Amino acid sequence: MNNSELIHRTTNTTTNQAQQSQQRDQSPNPLGKSTNPIRFMFRDQRFIFLLIGVAIATFFFTAVRHHHHHHHHRTRPDPVIESGSNLPSRRVLHESGGGDHIGWSSLSAGGRVPLGLKRKSLRIVVTGGAGFVGSHLVDRLIARGDSVIVVDNFFTGRKDNLVHHFGDPRFELIRHDVVEPILLEVDQIYHLACPASPVHYKFNPILDSLICGAHKTNVVGTLNMLGLAKRVGARFLLTSTSEVYGDPLQHPQAESYWGNVNPIGVRSCYDEGKRTAETLSMDYHRGHGLEVRIARIFNTYGPRMCIDDGRVVSNFVAQALRKEPLTVYGDGKQTRSFQYVSDLVEGLMRLMEGDHVGPFNLGNPGEFTMLELAQVVQEVIDPNAKIEFRPNTEDDPHKRRPDISKAKELLGWEPVVSLRKGLPLMVSDFRQRIFGDQKDSDAASSTSSA
Ligand SMILES: NC(=O)c1ccc[n+]([C@@H]2O[C@H](COP(=O)([O-])OP(=O)(O)OC[C@H]3O[C@@H](n4cnc5c(N)ncnc54)[C@H](O)[C@@H]3O)[C@@H](O)[C@H]2O)c1
Repeated sequence: MNNSELIHRTTNTTTNQAQQSQQRDQSPNPLGKSTNPIRFMFRDQRFIFLLIGVAIATFFFTAVRHHHHHHHHRTRPDPVIESGSNLPSRRVLHESGGGDHIGWSSLSAGGRVPLGLKRKSLRIVVTGGAGFVGSHLVDRLIARGDSVIVVDNFFTGRKDNLVHHFGDPRFELIRHDVVEPILLEVDQIYHLACPASPVHYKFNPILDSLICGAHKTNVVGTLNMLGLAKRVGARFLLTSTSEVYGDPLQHPQAESYWGNVNPIGVRSCYDEGKRTAETLSMDYHRGHGLEVRIARIFNTYGPRMCIDDGRVVSNFVAQALRKEPLTVYGDGKQTRSFQYVSDLVEGLMRLMEGDHVGPFNLGNPGEFTMLELAQVVQEVIDPNAKIEFRPNTEDDPHKRRPDISKAKELLGWEPVVSLRKGLPLMVSDFRQRIFGDQKDSDAASSTSSA
C-alpha cells in the first residue's frame, strides 16, 4: 500500500463523514414533521394499538385472579365458607395475605373485610380436649362457630366425649402427647392436658412407672405449648388449679394468696407441677410478650367426668348408683366447693376473650362439707345410700373455697348452677356409662376368655 492510496482513503473517509453529517442535518424530525406528541400518538393507529393492549392486559389479570380464587376453594375447602358463612376464616385471610400472619384487624383496616357483621371465626387448639372439662369446652367453641383442634393422648380422655363432632369439618382430633413438640397454625391455645385426678397424676404413662406423670406434663408439656404460642403468635390459656393454694392458711382463697403447699408430699407432683406451669406462663408473658391467661380451677363436676378417679363427686355418684356405701375420708368435716362444668367453661371463655392475664379463681363459692355433699347425693340418687368413714388421705386440704371477687369484677363472671341443680344433670350420664361399661367389660372378658 503506497502513500497516495493512504491519502486517498483518508480523503474518502472524511468525505463520507461530512456527507452523513449533512444528511443528518437535513433529515426530518424523528417525531415527524411536527414535534407535537399528541399528533405522534394518533399517527399510524398507535393509539388504537395502545387501547387494545390495555384491554388484553385487563382481561388477562381478571381471569387469572378469578381462577386463583376458585382454586383455593377447591383445593383447601374452608369449613366456615362451606357452611355458608359470609365471613372468610382466618385461614383464608392467611392465604390471601401471602402466608404471613396477618391479623383480622389489619385486613379489616384495608377495607376488604366488613367489620361488625359477625364475630370472626378462630382456629383453636384444646390440649386435653378429650377429657371432662376439655370436651365441654370444645362443644361450646364449635357451637360458637370456631374451628377446633383437639390434642390429646387419651391417658384419661375418651373419644366417646367427642364422637358427636366426628365428621364436622371444623373439628380435628390429634392423638399426641404434649411432652413432645407439635406445630399448628392457630389463634388460641387452651392448655388443659394433664392427668388431673389423684389416681392418675401419680402415674407416668410414658415411663410406665410411678414417677409423677403430672409433673412432666405440666412442665415439659406447658413449655411446648408456650413455645407453640410464641411461634405462631397465639393467645395461651393455662388451666391451673386451686391446689396451688395447698392446705390454705387463708380462707376463702384470693388470688393474692401464695399458698401453703408441701413440696415433697404425695400430691406435690400435681400441685408443684401446676405452680411451675404458672411460673413458666408468666415468664413467657413477661419475657416474650406472649398473651397469657391463667385460670385457677376449683372442684368441678358434671357429665363425662372420669368414673372412679378418686374425685369426691364422681366417687359418691358412682357409689350411690352401684348401691355401694359412700366413702367419706376423715371425719367428713373438711369442706369443698363444687362448680358445675358449664359455669367453668363460661369462665374459661370469658377469661380467654378478656384483657386480663389473671390468675383468676374459677369456682363456686358455695361451701359444703363432705358429709353435706353425701347428703345431697342421697337426696338426688338414693336416700338409702349408706355412709362409710375411712382414714383421711395424706395432705388432704381441710378447707377450700374460692374468693371470686376478681373474676366477678373483671370478667363479669359468676357461677349460676347450684349443686342441687347440677348433680342430677350428671346422674343419667353416669348411670348409662356405669351400666354400659359393665356390659362392655363383660363382653370383653367373655371374648378374651373365649
Ligand atoms: N375438674 C376439676 O375439678 C379440675 C380442678 C382443677 C384443675 N383442673 C384442670 O383442668 C384441666 C382438665 O381437667 P379435667 O377434669 O377435664 O381432667 P381429665 O383427666 O378429664 O382431662 C385431662 C385430659 O388431658 C389429657 N392428657 C393428660 N396428659 C396428657 C398429655 N401428656 N398429652 C396430651 N393429653 C394429655 C387426658 O387424656 C385427658 O383427656 C386439667 O389441667 C386439670 O388440672 C380441673
